[in-house]
Amino acid sequence: MDTIIVKMNESDIDEEKICQAAEIIRSGGLVAFPTETVYGLGANALDPVASTKIYAAKGRPSDNPLIAHIADLEMLKPLVEEIPEAARKLMDAFWPGPMTLIFKKSDLVPKETTGGLDTVAVRYPNHKIAQALIREAGVSIAAPSANLSGKPSPTMGEHVIDDMDGRIDMIIDGGMVGMGLESTIVDVTAETPMILRPGFITKEMLQEVVGQVGIDPAILQKPQEGLKPKAPGMKYRHYAPKADFTIYRGNKNKVATEILKRANEKAKEGFSVGIITAEEHLKLYEGKTDENICVIALGDLAHPETIANHLFQVLREFDKRGAEFIYGEAFSEDHIGQAIMNRLTKAAGYQITDL
Ligand code: TXA
Ligand code: MG
Repeated sequence: MDTIIVKMNESDIDEEKICQAAEIIRSGGLVAFPTETVYGLGANALDPVASTKIYAAKGRPSDNPLIAHIADLEMLKPLVEEIPEAARKLMDAFWPGPMTLIFKKSDLVPKETTGGLDTVAVRYPNHKIAQALIREAGVSIAAPSANLSGKPSPTMGEHVIDDMDGRIDMIIDGGMVGMGLESTIVDVTAETPMILRPGFITKEMLQEVVGQVGIDPAILQKPQEGLKPKAPGMKYRHYAPKADFTIYRGNKNKVATEILKRANEKAKEGFSVGIITAEEHLKLYEGKTDENICVIALGDLAHPETIANHLFQVLREFDKRGAEFIYGEAFSEDHIGQAIMNRLTKAAGYQITDL
């Protein structure tokens, strides 16, 4: 299949191209588009055949449900059975934005979109291109992240092109996304809202709006028998780079010493090695690494959103460089740090060593 690739700026939307993309969605095709979190791979959420195409293009297991994206609150009603009070408060506070809510689904939403579940995930993205596309299509758009299943989520148009060129009808390249981590998922079907996937909207922020908020215990630890995450997608080894990736946690000097030791050993054996650190710690590695080692700072510890923003991009960068081993520092798990460490830990296949 020939994929149409168009470039567009959020501040200068090409209406003609949006119309073309919307027509593709309405006629059952697939269009990748930017959102404020990561790129999405969209299809008509109410068309079971179109939803099924998404699974094929991504190579995604069909029990992993999709998020329906809307562009105004009116679009929510037909998708859900009811809108609980807590959901209303959260929508008021955080929509449009990086929060997905899980509702009981209406009969209108096909099981192909929800991976067979009786619930539906809905998000109102805060991105002008995404909103223009959904509005013009006139239907809610089912969209998972636009990566091949198992690869890091795409945060730049070129990541989507790498993964999806030739597999889908159209890619809208809107440059680099603003956030770089997927939305916070909150289940509002039970009395107490529960976080199923951490993101930019933190537990503290949710609690300020609705009081008590739970967090799915299964997402804080290595997948194990008997404790299944409530968001089916969280059980997969997502966000995986090709390299063997290990994270070290503890005192920064001890961590750097250990990482340098391991990295230099592997580099001497001839392997291509990557180190993941923060701007503030670059000096701990300067002049101490073998030439086969590439040291990358994800961002500033003082501004954790910069770390979130570059995380997936850097994992893809190491894949491109052919890194065989990656050694990384653990970051704080406070606030947005919970989402950062959730993604990093999964990328490392839960290989974390405490020093
Ligand atoms: O920021 C985002 O959420 C991005 C952009 C494109 O909006 N989308 C995204 O989609 O990350 P995806 O498919 O990569 O992740 C959706 C997650 C999966 O873990 C899936 O299992 C979960 O949401 N999910 C979807 N519907 C659900 C449901 N009804 N109940 C529980 N979990 C659900
Ligand atoms: Mg995904």
